[in-house]
Amino acid sequence: MSGEDFNITVNFRHQIRFTRGAFRAENSLVAELLETRGRSKVLVFVEEGLRVFFPKLEAEIQSYFSDLRGLSLAGVEWLPGGEEAKRGDAVYQAAMAQIEQKGIDRHSYVMVIGGGAFLDVVGYAAATGHRGVRLLRFPTTTLSQDDSGVGVKNGLNAFGKKNFIGAFAVPFAVVNDFCFLHTQPEGTRRAGLIEAVKVALVRDGEFFTWMEANVGKLRELDEGALEEAVQRSALLHARHIAQGGDPFELGSSRPLDYGHWAAHKLEQLSDFKLSHGEAVSVGVALDTLYAARVGLLDEREAERVLCVIEQLALPVWHEALELRDEEGRRRVFHGLEEFREHLGGELTVLLLKEAGQGVDVHEIDEMIWEACAEELKERALALTELG
Ligand SMILES: NC(=O)c1ccc[n+]([C@@H]2O[C@H](COP(=O)([O-])OP(=O)(O)OC[C@H]3O[C@@H](n4cnc5c(N)ncnc54)[C@H](O)[C@@H]3O)[C@@H](O)[C@H]2O)c1
Ligand SMILES: [Zn+2]
Repeated sequence: MSGEDFNITVNFRHQIRFTRGAFRAENSLVAELLETRGRSKVLVFVEEGLRVFFPKLEAEIQSYFSDLRGLSLAGVEWLPGGEEAKRGDAVYQAAMAQIEQKGIDRHSYVMVIGGGAFLDVVGYAAATGHRGVRLLRFPTTTLSQDDSGVGVKNGLNAFGKKNFIGAFAVPFAVVNDFCFLHTQPEGTRRAGLIEAVKVALVRDGEFFTWMEANVGKLRELDEGALEEAVQRSALLHARHIAQGGDPFELGSSRPLDYGHWAAHKLEQLSDFKLSHGEAVSVGVALDTLYAARVGLLDEREAERVLCVIEQLALPVWHEALELRDEEGRRRVFHGLEEFREHLGGELTVLLLKEAGQGVDVHEIDEMIWEACAEELKERALALTELG
């Protein structure tokens, strides 16, 4: 036998920026991010649903690039977004066809402007066309600005499973433009804050205390509070990815997926009527109460978390939790097996020890977890009756 081992080290720069009005003539951020070496092209994909809110966006983009030397705008393409865009491959194929037709090469840029689902689909096309072209993401929802957009993943749903297809690909840059943040329906805008709650709980207790103190403003979607929460959350997520030691999730521990094993399953069980944010809210509430019930987390800490979720008008329970399989087991528990399968290795679920600190566990006691689901059901029903 013969052979040799080689270490391949690749260094990625993960550039996260915050701005307002990225394509206004006086805003130089995008121009400064791009390398203008003469022949590079820029192809921009925008989520169709944004047109009514930002009718001048295409003209602004055209004008921005007409003034920029060394780069040419290859086109502004509007495609459908939302979770539906991740369900089949039509949007992915349409984006890929544009990348091919417009001659986007590995020194050119794809820009994608939209919610988390749209970023995932176009991001996958950018990661696979020419085996990867440079991607600039412009997330437009709370959830994509405070979490998914600053991550290094993309994906499509397949075989009834979330994000079954996809790639790890560090974007060239992420531009969180706060001008996009305030036009989503109130429910979605608020629901995206759950990822900020989540990352605070697993990484930064002081940030959780800040959210708790500002929960009234956040509930009312006060612009300043929302932007501060988004910025702090985005930076915490990016810092964890860059410095947490496992950017491409090769290990089995995934702290940023706190509450997500149930959430992903609930999204699917509700046929995606439950949004990702709402599903994470239920998942976080359940795993938090569970941690208290198994003696890991102080009851009062769990109560703080549940109160913040409720005060943000987010759900702690959903009827999809009641669905059972032929053996009478709650279907949501299949999420545990799928989570394990997705990560590989031993089942690893993060639970809280305190606000700001988690601990990995390797099994979930289904009886105790079910009792938590029942308790949260009562709590949710009582809140509905109140009003
Ligand atoms: N890649 C990752 O690491 C990662 C991480 C977490 C979540 N995600 C994925 O992100 C997706 C959820 O993203 P999302 O919460 O942004 O939802 P979304 O992308 O489904 O968008 C929700 C709705 O908001 C609309 N919208 C978007 N921006 C708007 C704006 N500025 N004004 C008005 N309407 C706007 C969209 O058209 C859509 O109808 C899920 O598919 C989830 O799996 C990915
Ligand atoms: Zn999430």
